[in-house]
Amino acid sequence: MALPAPEQLHPNPLTQVTLADLRRRTSAKWRKYDPDVLPLWVAEMDVALAPPIREALEQAVAEGDLGYAAGDAYTEAFASFAESRWGWSIAPGQLTTVADVITGYTDILCTVTEPGDQIIVNSPVYPPFYSYLRAQGRVVTEAPLGEDLRLDLASLEESFAAATAGGSAAAYLLCNPHNPTGVTHTRAELTRVAALADQYGVAVVSDEIHAPLVYEGHAFVPYLSVPGGESGFALHAASKSWNLAGIPAAIVVGGTGVTAELARYARSAHHGPTHFGVLAQTVAYRDGEPWLDALLAGLDHNRRLLATLIDEHLAGAGYRLPEATYLTWIDCRELDIEGDPSAHFLEHARVAVNSGPTFGTGGAGHVRLNIATHPEIITEAVRRMGASTHQG
Ligand SMILES: Cc1ncc(COP(=O)(O)O)c(C=O)c1O
Repeated sequence: MALPAPEQLHPNPLTQVTLADLRRRTSAKWRKYDPDVLPLWVAEMDVALAPPIREALEQAVAEGDLGYAAGDAYTEAFASFAESRWGWSIAPGQLTTVADVITGYTDILCTVTEPGDQIIVNSPVYPPFYSYLRAQGRVVTEAPLGEDLRLDLASLEESFAAATAGGSAAAYLLCNPHNPTGVTHTRAELTRVAALADQYGVAVVSDEIHAPLVYEGHAFVPYLSVPGGESGFALHAASKSWNLAGIPAAIVVGGTGVTAELARYARSAHHGPTHFGVLAQTVAYRDGEPWLDALLAGLDHNRRLLATLIDEHLAGAGYRLPEATYLTWIDCRELDIEGDPSAHFLEHARVAVNSGPTFGTGGAGHVRLNIATHPEIITEAVRRMGASTHQG
């Protein structure tokens, strides 16, 4: 009899931690709200660490191995993961490390634009796409997604044209896959983006932090791998897919056409990642794939469960299965709720979800709900949300 493949030995990471364990956690997800609230907001996952990551961190602590980060193991592990998972070949000269993804995209965008220049984003989008760049004096301009929640290439072109009129530099911060809608951009869409960026001279930075979290039937397409993508930059990290947000470490990938700019950036004074972050995230990319695949199977179950629960308890809410990520985007405009639905659900259902309007234009009447938790928690949360809409 054949032995099961090693990956089949992994239990569902989303059913291993109890609610009592989670209530003892001290990170943002479990501490921001009162203990009667079910927290389905920030992008943390309710999982235990993947065993190889836990072993590496325990060994470092036991041995007092907590100095500065060194060597190329992290970028090497990422490059082999990218090759085997996505067929994307990256040369060592295209990679450098940075403290975290937000620092990476902010730094790179600030090297290719000046204060007062425009940076285009596709709203609704991850709120820190606005805040950090505005703090650096950049003007964040929205090219909203279409009704179908996909890139609206005509609106993108208009924004590129307007932002560069008069000869100003402009940049585009792409979210690939997209947070909060869970859309994976196709090769055709990204090829068109690259053509527009080239036509208008817009620098492209692609935040690809959610790239490993793609469901069967969909594909992550690295922006730098499409024709014309070679003049862009991309950001990667293992922190969302293996739940390492508290020990971040990120990678900046430069397209083959911008290796000189990347080398200049690598030599500039910027915060590198911590040794602990590098250690954990290296092991994630190198040895964490069986755990990731078990996680994706669990998330696939949860995204389908949410559809059933919405039908049962929140009829009228709009929900499409995400193609990627554990973040789901729920349209509550047809529900009988006044004001921001997230405030209603917190007050009347004791469920914390992210407020749609914080994601920019297109966010009103929506909430973002994180499904990276035990299916029983999702079931109870949606039951409560449904009951809250009946009591007004
Ligand atoms: C699109 C996106 N970029 C960046 C981050 C944060 O990355 P980091 O913690 O490495 O700055 C998140 C976190 O949820 C995210 O969704």
